[in-house]
Amino acid sequence: MNPANSESPRFFDSLGIASGSRVLDVGCGNGDLSRFVARLAGPSGEIIAIDSNQSALKAACAISKDPDAAPIDYRAVDLSRDLPELGRFDVIVGRRILMYLPDTSATLSRLVGLAKPGAVLAFQEHARRNVPFDHPALTLHRQLYDWTWDTVAAEGGDVTLGKNLDEKMRAHGLSIIQAYSEVVLIEPDQPSFLPTLMRVMLPRLVKRGVSTEGEVQVDTLAQRLEKEHQAFGGAIVWDQAFFVAGRVVG
Ligand SMILES: C[S@@+](CC[C@H](N)C(=O)[O-])C[C@H]1O[C@@H](n2cnc3c(N)ncnc32)[C@H](O)[C@@H]1O
Repeated sequence: MNPANSESPRFFDSLGIASGSRVLDVGCGNGDLSRFVARLAGPSGEIIAIDSNQSALKAACAISKDPDAAPIDYRAVDLSRDLPELGRFDVIVGRRILMYLPDTSATLSRLVGLAKPGAVLAFQEHARRNVPFDHPALTLHRQLYDWTWDTVAAEGGDVTLGKNLDEKMRAHGLSIIQAYSEVVLIEPDQPSFLPTLMRVMLPRLVKRGVSTEGEVQVDTLAQRLEKEHQAFGGAIVWDQAFFVAGRVVG
């Protein structure tokens, strides 16, 4: 599992999503967060989960329904364009989605337009920082980190979004109710999630000319990462996550 997701439940749970809430999950991917908020909203709630990736949506739909949770309606929607009619929401959530979009402000403005008065918008986003790899022994980890963020930048994403998100949300009239940050650790006693991440990202790295299959050598990545981690010794600070929630005033 991506260790960046381990702190998500605490944040999204703290929003006070009430039973019966109508919730929008933007950039839902395989629906992990959608299913979490569906349990909070309960059977009388309703979740609309949107993503532009058809295969992620197919995987999400294949997961069996939970009778104790709100029904989830997965829909193919491109968040960088005008949104279809989705109704109004009590809560809008997203995890690692706004940072991939070319114009966060435009998307935030569309999302605020879908929020009921008093609704909460809450996002977990990340930002590229130089902090994690101040240790010279972590050359492979550093390389993967750089390739990943170089790809997001080449795709037109906003690699600084996490640290500016509260400001951007305020600029859209939201009253900030929570804003904090946490580092994401790769623990020494757990298998690294990086080989899986790099396998998924490899076509994007190659497409953007950031790296090649030969340079990544994905099949030997797990062993090389483990060797580097063992030599390093402790928990590796991999990334920085930002958790920001704001309320629609009025
Ligand atoms: C890092 S994944 C996060 C998935 C999910 N939110 C989670 O945390 O498990 C980013 C997701 O954003 C989606 N995405 C990227 N650009 C998008 C766009 N323009 N419109 C809709 N979804 C988009 C991708 O398809 C992918 O599923």
